[in-house]
Amino acid sequence: MCGIIGYVGNKSALPVLQRALKRLEYRGYDSAGVAILQDGRFKVVKQPGKVEKLNVLLESIPMHGKLGLGHTRWATHGVVSEVNAHPHWDCKQEIMVVHNGIIENYKHLRKELEDKGHKFLSQTDTEIIAHLVEEYYTHTLEEAVIKVLSKIKGTYAFVVASQREPEKLVGARLLSPLILGLGENGYYLVSDVTALLNETRLVVYLDDGDVVVVKKDGFQILDFKGQPRRKTSSKIQWDFSTRDKAGYPHFMLKEIYEQPEVVKRNITKYIRAEEISLSIDENILREAKHLWIVACGTAYHAGLVSEYLIERWAKIPVTVDTSSEFRYRDVVLEENTLFICISQSGETADTLAALRLARKMGIRTLAVVNVEGSTIAREADTVIYTNAGPEIGVASTKAYIAQLFILQLLGLKLAQLKNTIDIGFYKSYLTEIQMIPLYLESCLANASQIQKIADEVYNAHNFLYLARGMNFPNALEGALKLKEISYIHAEGYPGGEMKHGPIALIEDSLPVVAILSQGRVRDKMLSNLLEVKARHGKVIGIFPAGDQEVKEVCDYSIEIPAVREELSTLLVPIPLQLLAYYVAVNRKCDIDQPRNLAKSVTVE
Ligand code: G6P
Repeated sequence: MCGIIGYVGNKSALPVLQRALKRLEYRGYDSAGVAILQDGRFKVVKQPGKVEKLNVLLESIPMHGKLGLGHTRWATHGVVSEVNAHPHWDCKQEIMVVHNGIIENYKHLRKELEDKGHKFLSQTDTEIIAHLVEEYYTHTLEEAVIKVLSKIKGTYAFVVASQREPEKLVGARLLSPLILGLGENGYYLVSDVTALLNETRLVVYLDDGDVVVVKKDGFQILDFKGQPRRKTSSKIQWDFSTRDKAGYPHFMLKEIYEQPEVVKRNITKYIRAEEISLSIDENILREAKHLWIVACGTAYHAGLVSEYLIERWAKIPVTVDTSSEFRYRDVVLEENTLFICISQSGETADTLAALRLARKMGIRTLAVVNVEGSTIAREADTVIYTNAGPEIGVASTKAYIAQLFILQLLGLKLAQLKNTIDIGFYKSYLTEIQMIPLYLESCLANASQIQKIADEVYNAHNFLYLARGMNFPNALEGALKLKEISYIHAEGYPGGEMKHGPIALIEDSLPVVAILSQGRVRDKMLSNLLEVKARHGKVIGIFPAGDQEVKEVCDYSIEIPAVREELSTLLVPIPLQLLAYYVAVNRKCDIDQPRNLAKSVTVE
């Protein structure tokens, strides 16, 4: 939800901003803009559309200057338009601001300021910050910002600059991410570390309640009362080389193909000498009597899969919630509940709020997170990283596989610690799970066959995804992938529930993606498939290689390696992702940046 960058240093600011905006674009891409302090005055260029469009415009507008702000927007308040794009400014265009988040009391503040004569141009909540700074700016920029902070309510990470203090940036954060990059040639205030590629690896992770004052020759961190705060810097370990398409037409496809590598990386990291070692205090797991898993979107589906596995292996109750529901209902968490939040970005606003709520309730918290140093990773009592590397495609793929894989290890470890599985099973499962990268490769080898299926079904208006048991959440995920990138309405349903409604939809124009695996629900699911066929549904089956009986029922067959049901949950996502991808290619959709979506949802 919006990407922000502020830069001050010895380099020309514009290329720095352009590079960062390109990398931040996955956070929102409906408009983009920059402001550069040039010869004592701010020069602003902004417009609706993606960063690329802004870059084309900038080719004909020379801009020089060593301080600048940039923004890529995901609209919350105000339509997508030039005037609502950031940066925003005060009455005299002397103060510039870029913001990620929502100022909830902006209407009331705007009225107050308008009564005092301030003139607003946009419909955004952000513009209020520039006018408030103008109102309180009697001495230094940071003093004015601190006064503003006592007036505004909501969530924010923002950066402000002023012509009056031409070598200074002031940033503040509350519930939206902001990171200070310490480079040899200047300082950066950015929404996330990926924006710092090729600039610096040295960062200070700012916390809620931090105000940062950055000058060309140093920085200072204060609290919202203006008192100094001490912070240490950290070195980013991420391998940034994964940030280009490497010859693939889309990041999504590249990330789908990276999945075997991601799993290999996690095997190396977490499986040693026939043992799972998650590098956490095992007592947390040993003492857990109930798991409460909270996440959004794809991460939520990973949580749902793990519910089946963990209950089966570790014999403890598991509850899975979407973060936005968890935080607004009266949950009853018993003592010894372990709260687990799953997040690719580690910044999702609802998941972060749910984590904070759990902590406030005195519950132990564990985060399963991809992005190193993200807020959720830093605030949870314990973190397990999923090591998927930067994921750029808005539709999550490799981060999902990594989450599923880590949650399997977590479930097995829990079961081992609680003595609820046979040691022989544990050992053999551990051997088998290390074959997953190979199995994933063989799933990827079906790509051209899946592409042909997509060529035939891409015109459908609706899709139904059916599965039972632990692959049911994968049906939800398959439907989500298709919706996200192809804009086709799709529903995931438990096969057994089909008769309670969706069966009414079945006709020959409705593709039904049916997931089958070995195990206790295979025969039940096959019966459901026959019910679909009896009503002329068009079946795309994903099932274990060699299951001839299922194959005969399917109109289109996608075979995956014949592994046990638990392991199949790690393989099924590949055909689902590829099917969604090729359908979207046929429909000429913007695959890496689907309309209305953003990768990191930092507003509620
Ligand atoms: C957005 C993204 C999804 C992601 C969800 C949760 O909706 O588009 O891909 O699954 O947020 O994000 P998180 O970063 O917390 O996993």
